Amino acid sequence: GRTADLAGRHVVISAGGTREPLDPVRFLGNRSSGRQGIALATAAARRGARVTLVAANVEDALLPDDPAVAVRRVETALELRDAVRAAAAEADAVVMAAAVADFRPATTTTHKIKKAVGGDADPEPIRLATNPDILAELAADRPRTGQVVVGFAAETGDGDADALEHGRAKARRKGADLLAVNQVGEDRGFGDVPNEVTVLDAAGEVVARAGGSKTEVADALWTLVAEQLVAAST
Ligand code: C5P
Repeated sequence: GRTADLAGRHVVISAGGTREPLDPVRFLGNRSSGRQGIALATAAARRGARVTLVAANVEDALLPDDPAVAVRRVETALELRDAVRAAAAEADAVVMAAAVADFRPATTTTHKIKKAVGGDADPEPIRLATNPDILAELAADRPRTGQVVVGFAAETGDGDADALEHGRAKARRKGADLLAVNQVGEDRGFGDVPNEVTVLDAAGEVVARAGGSKTEVADALWTLVAEQLVAAST
């Protein structure tokens, strides 16, 4: 379609997966490709928005080459939080599509961690520190009234209904205006595969279901966001 319902809007999208360093060459990471966040950025630009894409370890070849999309590269959750917050200060909507590590190594060594020479000694355990919940912070602490905050939740569960229950609890806990829940498993959710999401509001109620490609999911979400932006300004 040729809808420009996001014209004049600035939206911030996080994409990819954070890497939490253990030492100069090793990290704790995840399998998020960044494709859903990139589909969101491309769709928003097509609908007229100015986009800030905070990209956590997204392959260069996947990044959109569009003058309406400003890319800010980050690696860790703490860097992602700084970049998202800075951009969110003047954004109409923030969509957290990145897979953010809940924990990071409590310390990062400046030298490569080595195994003891000739030793059978047990390795040192990795101590973890808790990362902030960026989405919950953004939802609780809005720099602009009427700003729309959106999250994604990849849920595993014993079937879709169970995954949805987890999503409901998460929606209430995080306080985002919209939470797009999808069930992930062996073959679903990650990478270049079709996606299916149930969109919940902050009370955990189902407001929409969207399926198909990541672009279709993105467009369904932007339609909901655009509606909320109009409602907030009337
Ligand atoms: O709790 P969970 O990781 O399932 O929540 C997913 C949503 O929360 C995503 O939108 C993700 O970007 C966001 N998140 C966050 N900060 C974290 C963990 C997740 O913003 N530390």
